[in-house]
Order: sequence, then structure tokens, then C-alpha cells
Amino acid sequence: MTRHFLRDDDLAPAEQADVLDLADAMKKDRFGWRTLAGPRAVAVLFDKQSLRTRVSLTVGIAELGGHPLVIDTQATHLGRGEAIEDVARVLSRQVAVIAWRTFAQQRIEALAAAATVPVINALTDQFHPCQVLADLQTIREHHGSLGGRTLAFLGDGASNMAHSYLLGGATAGMTVRIGAPERFRPGEPVMAAAARIAAQTGAAVEFVTDPRAACEGADVIATDVWASMGTEDTRAERLAVLGSSGRDDSYRLDGPKLALGRPGCLVLHCLPAHRGEEISADVLDGPNSVVWDQAENRLHSGKALLAWLLEHA
Ligand code: CP
Ligand code: NVA
Repeated sequence: MTRHFLRDDDLAPAEQADVLDLADAMKKDRFGWRTLAGPRAVAVLFDKQSLRTRVSLTVGIAELGGHPLVIDTQATHLGRGEAIEDVARVLSRQVAVIAWRTFAQQRIEALAAAATVPVINALTDQFHPCQVLADLQTIREHHGSLGGRTLAFLGDGASNMAHSYLLGGATAGMTVRIGAPERFRPGEPVMAAAARIAAQTGAAVEFVTDPRAACEGADVIATDVWASMGTEDTRAERLAVLGSSGRDDSYRLDGPKLALGRPGCLVLHCLPAHRGEEISADVLDGPNSVVWDQAENRLHSGKALLAWLLEHA
């Protein structure tokens, strides 16, 4: 059966660990894998903007000996309403894998249902699972382990990143604590799915509205933009709500909040960042920040995911 990676829990705990191990091996021996030799093509489609995903998949596909076919969908008929299923059928006859960055999760589910090759979620409104693979690789690199560690996320708890931390972090056996206002609480089905995974892996998932309580004792504190792509029309409201928690503080990741974490607490941000908005410049550019390793690991974990999916196709 063709395997897809549409959300973080498409990989079982042991499978996620295998992908992370492969990502580490690929980082050590960067040109040692030729999984896509031929070259076989991989289609990487974008309905939204991207720097890191576009670059890491393009470079990664080339390093695996393949041909990256990077397509802005506005330049195709998909951008003017061609049926998603028809796009899946056409691409499946010619490429080895399809990656897509789009809006609603249902769109990528429709693509995967009609595709006969693996489909990778390169970000939807609901999930960003490729990013969380890179984040887990980064945490393991710096802390040596994932299971039992606490990851706090501050900001939009209903965002793709918060949802992917819940599912991906629980799969890795971590405590995932979302610190967000009630208005931006994680989706209930995602919380429930994460709690089910947590019960198997020894993990825990928590939601708190107090941004300071979220950070207490954390091994990792992550944040992301307050207005994700596609939510720009509510940007002013988001800045007002997230900029003040009602407890004379905000959900901004700054020095005082970082100080509540454990010594050596890592700072993650998937980027792009807005210094002074969701994160202070001193924290983003400070000694606890591992965001450049995190961005680089998109390459290694992306290659590992491609190779793993093809091996299990
Ligand atoms: N982190 C991330 O996915 O970045 P891009 O939007 O630049 O791809
Ligand atoms: N939550 C952000 C992530 C960008 C990589 C967005 O969806 O815009």
C-alpha cells in the first residue's frame, strides 16, 4: 500500500524514530544516498509562499540523484480549478513522489486518495509535519533524547505548527504543552488524537492559557508567527489577542519567559520570524536559539522522509 505523510501521526512511533535515524545518517554522509537515481522526478507544488521548504526539497531531491519539479500552482490549471484528483492521476504517471503546500487539509487528502505515488504534506492550514520532523531531529541533536522531555509552544494554538507539535511530539514520547489564549485553542480532534498517541508512548499533551505556566520547566520552547498564511485578514485581532495575555504579559517568547525553562532550554522557530512580535530579537538571535540548525535539518529530514516513503511504497 502506498504510504503518504499528510499529518504527523501517519508515522507510528517506531517509524518516526527510523526516519529521524536516517536523517541523522544522511546529515553525516550527505551524498551517500542515491534513492532517486534515474533521475526520478519529484513534483513539489506550492499554493502558498515558501523559502525553506522549497529550497530544502529542491536541494534534497537533487542530492538523492533525482529531478526536482518545483511548480507554483498559479502557473498551472490547478490554480484555476482543475480537479485535484485529475492532477493526482496525471502526476502519478510521471513522478515518484508528490509534495504539496496548500490550504485546507481536505485538499491534500483528496490528492492522496487519487494518487498512486506517495504524497507529502509540505504545509496545510492544519498541519506542518515536515517541519516537526526537522524540529525533532534538532532537539535530539542538542538534548540527546526526545522521550520524557517537555516542549512548550507559545502563540496560535490552533495553527498548523501547534497541531503538528501535538501529534509529532506525542509520537516521540514528549510532553507537549500549548500556551495560547482560549480564542486560539488547538482543535479538539487534534488534542484528542494526540492524547490517544500519548497514552501509548508515555507522552502527555496539555493546554494552558497562562504563557508563563506554559514555559515553566520546559526543555524546548517553540513559537511561530501569530498570523499564518491565509489568516492575514484577522491579523490585527491576532496581534491584539496574542500581544496581551490579560495577565500584564503577552504570548511573545522573550527573555523572562525563556528564563522559566530548564537551564539549556532550546528555542525553536520554524521561520520566517517577526522579531519583536512573536519572539524578541535577543531570544531569536541568542545562545539558546537553534533555529539555523532547525532550518538546515529540513534538508536532512526531508531527504530521509522521501527515501523512507519510497522504500515503503
Ligand atoms: N518553515 C518553513 O516551512 O518555511 P517556508 O515557509 O519558508 O518553507
Ligand atoms: N504557521 C506558519 C508557518 C510558516 C512556515 C504559516 O502557516 O504561515
